[in-house]
Parts: sequence; structure tokens; C-alpha cells
Amino acid sequence: MLRTHTCGELRKSDVGHEVTLAGWVQRIRDKGSLLWIDLRDRYGITQLFLEDGKSDKLLVAKVRELGREYVIQITGTVTERSSKNDKIPTGEIEVVPSAIEILNTSKVPPFTIEDNTDGGDDLRMKYRYIDLRRKMVADNLHLRHKMAQQTRSYLDSQNFIEVETPVLIKSTPEGARDFVVPSRMNEGEFYALPQSPQTFKQLLMVSGFDRYYQIVRCFRDEDLRADRQPEFTQIDCEMAFVTQEDVLNTFEGLIRHLFKKVKNIEIPPLPRMSFQEAMEKYGSDKPDTRFGMEFCDFTQLSKGKNFQVFDQAEIIIGINATGCASYTRKQLDELTDFVRKPQIGAKGLVYIKYETDGSIKSSVDKFYTNDDLKSWMETADAKPGDLILVLAGETRQTRNALNELRLLMGDKLGLRDHNTFNALWVIDFPLLEWSDDTKRFHAMHHPFTSPKKEDIKLLDSDPAKVRANAYDMVINGTEVGGGSIRIHDRATQQLMFRHLGFSEEEAKQQFGFLLDAFEFGAPPHGGIAFGFDRLCSLFGGSESIRDFIAFPKNNAGRDVMIDTPSAISQEQLDELKISVKKK
Ligand code: AMO
Repeated sequence: MLRTHTCGELRKSDVGHEVTLAGWVQRIRDKGSLLWIDLRDRYGITQLFLEDGKSDKLLVAKVRELGREYVIQITGTVTERSSKNDKIPTGEIEVVPSAIEILNTSKVPPFTIEDNTDGGDDLRMKYRYIDLRRKMVADNLHLRHKMAQQTRSYLDSQNFIEVETPVLIKSTPEGARDFVVPSRMNEGEFYALPQSPQTFKQLLMVSGFDRYYQIVRCFRDEDLRADRQPEFTQIDCEMAFVTQEDVLNTFEGLIRHLFKKVKNIEIPPLPRMSFQEAMEKYGSDKPDTRFGMEFCDFTQLSKGKNFQVFDQAEIIIGINATGCASYTRKQLDELTDFVRKPQIGAKGLVYIKYETDGSIKSSVDKFYTNDDLKSWMETADAKPGDLILVLAGETRQTRNALNELRLLMGDKLGLRDHNTFNALWVIDFPLLEWSDDTKRFHAMHHPFTSPKKEDIKLLDSDPAKVRANAYDMVINGTEVGGGSIRIHDRATQQLMFRHLGFSEEEAKQQFGFLLDAFEFGAPPHGGIAFGFDRLCSLFGGSESIRDFIAFPKNNAGRDVMIDTPSAISQEQLDELKISVKKK
């Protein structure tokens, strides 16, 4: 090896020892007669110290040739520092080199290798291999590694077996578009990259593996956001001979294990909330339960007082922003502008201030008496000093807008601390979801999810009311995982496909293999998949999953470092029999 120690390792107890270190030159301070070098590797920083006049002349000359990010190897003696640095673990010592070898030079890096770097997003992505030298970015990958190790350790202890499934497959519908790969040997035909290994893990249950997992790459061609990448990683799991209760308990175990082992946090047992309750109380199927501010329903109280907006609304709901009665006109206008943004979509915002002197002021004083508003305050459990914010309109859209407003107020009031973790299960999801775009029902989770037995009779008469054996794990308002108990018989699966608008022929063509498998002794089974990148970013206290992926794509789905997607050669296109329109 080119080193005896790493740059994060030496302590006072090593003083007097001769060591060899190798790493990158982080910083050089040349004070004329005194020279310091910060030598960095993945493990930390060790200070090197030379004194002009005392140290070898050639050595001093060599140090003066070094530049930032040069790769060097040094041999020297560990000594105690006269002025210590308690901010780094090696801060009590320094190494006085007796030999320095330049292993490689470096151009001046395009940005500083510091936590607070001067490099913008694009530049750092283009030179991601340099960005990964920054401690805070490298720490994220270390965290990811630990999460993967602990996941494997827990699942192994629970008898799960890791099985790899193919990447060149046929479409598995998870609600996004497929990435496709043309087949040279099968002209005009394409593979799809898996949106998830869903059908394969179910087939493994038919094969008898009964507890499967895989930390696996999935591919989805969908609009990107901070918590979405076109290729991302799942902890994908499936179990046979289990009920929903068994699955929830097993994976609650996984998440508690991860919190304990990775963050040394004991999280309490996960509460369960039905989809309906989540929508009524938080307007979201992934409620951020780090704070209360639950929705209050003013629909009954506020109708029939000649306020047209409310009289015409399907629902009138609000939140109590505690302690915000002192909000100024300007602050309230800002909130109104926020809810009116096209992506939020509310028409306006009604506010009621419960002043600290007990008086009530509102933006709807014209229509409501003081007593009317007093009863609103009771509904909202408001105290003097509180501010009630109310939205009205169509149910789904209004709940959605109030959810956004609630999250914004949560941010403003400092209630969404990255170091507080609040996990829960959301259960009893609807089986189907109406799409205004396609004018038909889609599977809310995926087509292999089983309906609740007692609701099957509603499939024809009231499909939207049918509940599924489906569940999501939500932490701090992020959906970190989702799964279901599956259909495991051909007749029910065919019934489901029919309700999703598949003809018998289409169902057979796309999923014949699964329908066939269900006729060869398929056990009852169910499972879940966690978004591994999301879990890592949550544990790391960041909103963006990109920070936890070694080589992520940007918001346009591009890898700017290797510059892809990119054109392929005419020869390749010809071989694949693909013609491409010139731009
Ligand atoms: P689902 O589609 O809910 O379920 O995905 C499981 C989890 O994967 C994460 N996730 C993503 N993370 C980053 N980027 C994306 N584009 C992305 N899409 C999803 C989320 C999500 O909760 N086969 C089923 C699971 C099952 O039923 O067992 C599935 O894939 O955290």
C-alpha cells in the first residue's frame, strides 16, 4: 500500500511514529518561513508542517511546487501541534515530512472543495467526480452505504433472500412511462426497463421463495422533482403466506432497525391512518405529522349567510395558524398570492384574526356576525392570538390547496425540523382512481393490488368506493414506501383488468405469463417497496434525493457529466432499423 495510515486516523498517541500518508492537497499556507499543508482523503484531513531553514531545502522547494488537488505521498514523523484544532479529530497532531512524492498533478479545480463551495449546481454536476470529494457530499454516500448494509442485515435476519431480476423486460405498469430499449435481434421490437420488479417478485412467490428482497434500480420516464429521478433505487420486498398486518409489522421493524442502527433513534410504533382520514385532516395521502394544524370543517357553520363564494362551495375548510393573529396586511396578501398560484389553484383566502384582546377581525366581516365567527373559533379550537385561514371550493382541489398552505405555514412557524422524525402508515387506499385525462379509472397503486373482500360487490355499482389492501409508509410528509396484498388468482386478476379497461386479449398479451402462473399454485402474497434514495435523503436531512445518488440526472433528465441522452451513430440506427427525424 502507498500509505500506512489514512488522513483521518492519527492521534496524540501516535506522536513520535514514522508514518506514510497519501491524499489530495486541500490547502497550502505559506507564511514565508513556516508552511502548512492540509492533506485530505476520504477519511479526513491531516496537517503537514515544514519550517524553512529547519526542513530539508529540496523538500521545501517541492512543497512550493504543489497546487490544490495535487495527489501526493508523504513520509514523516507525527508530532504534537503547538496550537490545536478541536474542530477535527486529527487536530492535536501534525506530520513533519521527511519525504514528499508527487503522485499526480492537478489542474486548478473548477470550484473549491469545501462544504460552502463557490461552484454552482451545473458546474458541480459537470465535474461530479470532484464534487464527490467534498465532505458533505461524500458523507451522503457513506450514509447510503450504511443504510444498504443495515437493510440487508435486517432482512437477512428475517429470512429474506436477495434475488436479482432482469432489467430488459416488458412493461410493468406503475403509473409512469417506460424507458424502452430496441432489440437488434428482433427487428421492430423493444424491451422496457422495469418501473419496478413487481411481476417478477410475484412470480418468485409462486416459485416458493416466500421472502424476497432486492435493492434494485427502477426506471420511470416521468416529470422530475426534488424527490424523483428517472432512475432510482427501491428496497423491493415480497412475502408469501402473510396478511397485511404481517407485512406492516415486518417493515415497521425494518424502519425502526434503520433509525436505531443508523441514527441511534428509537422511533415509537407507527400509528395508522386511513386514506380517508388523511384526506379529511390533512388534504394529503402523505401527511406531514410533525405538526398538528389539522383541517377544520366550516361547511355547515358558514353557509346560508349570503356570502356567495361560500354558499356555492362544496366544502369550506381551514387551519388554525396558532399565534399568527399579528400577521400584517402584507403577510396576509402574500399568503393569498401563494394560494392563488396556478399550481395551488385557490380563488382566494379568507382570514379570521382572533386578536389577543379577544376581539375578532376577518376578511368576511360583512357577512358574518361576531357570534358567527366566535363559533368558528370554537370549531378551530382557536385561542386569542391565533389566525384562521379558510379556503372554499370543490372538495379535492380545496383540500389540496389547503394542504399546500398548511405545509407553508408549517415552514414559516419552524414546525418542520429535519431532525424530528414522524412516521406513520396510511392504509385503506381506494383501489381505483378516476383520471380526467383518459376519462377512465386507473389502478391507484397498481393492477395487481387486491380489493378488500367486502368491497368487491361495489366494483360495478360504485367503483370509486372500493378500497384496496394497499398501504404507504409516510415519514415527515414523504411517501417513503408503498405496497399491497396482491391478487393471487386468475379470475380476480382478470376481473381487475376488465375494470381497468383491458380487453381479454390485451390482458393476455401483456400479462398472460402472470395469469398463467396464478394457475400453478400461487400462494397468497403481498409486499412493499421503499424508495431507497428518498429514505437516504430523509435520514440525511435533505429534500433532494440527488445529493444521495453518486451520479444523478439533472431536472431535465440529463447527465451533464457524460452528456447524455445523446445521438447515436447512423450505423447503430441502421442496425436497429430505426429512422430518426433530424432536428
Ligand atoms: P411505488 O410506485 O409506490 O410502488 O414505488 C415505491 C416507492 O418508490 C419511490 N419512488 C421513487 N423514488 C425516486 N424517484 C422516483 N421517480 C420514484 N418513484 C417511486 C417512492 C415510492 O413509495 N411495485 C410497487 C411496490 C409494491 O407494491 O410492492 C411500487 O413500485 O418512495
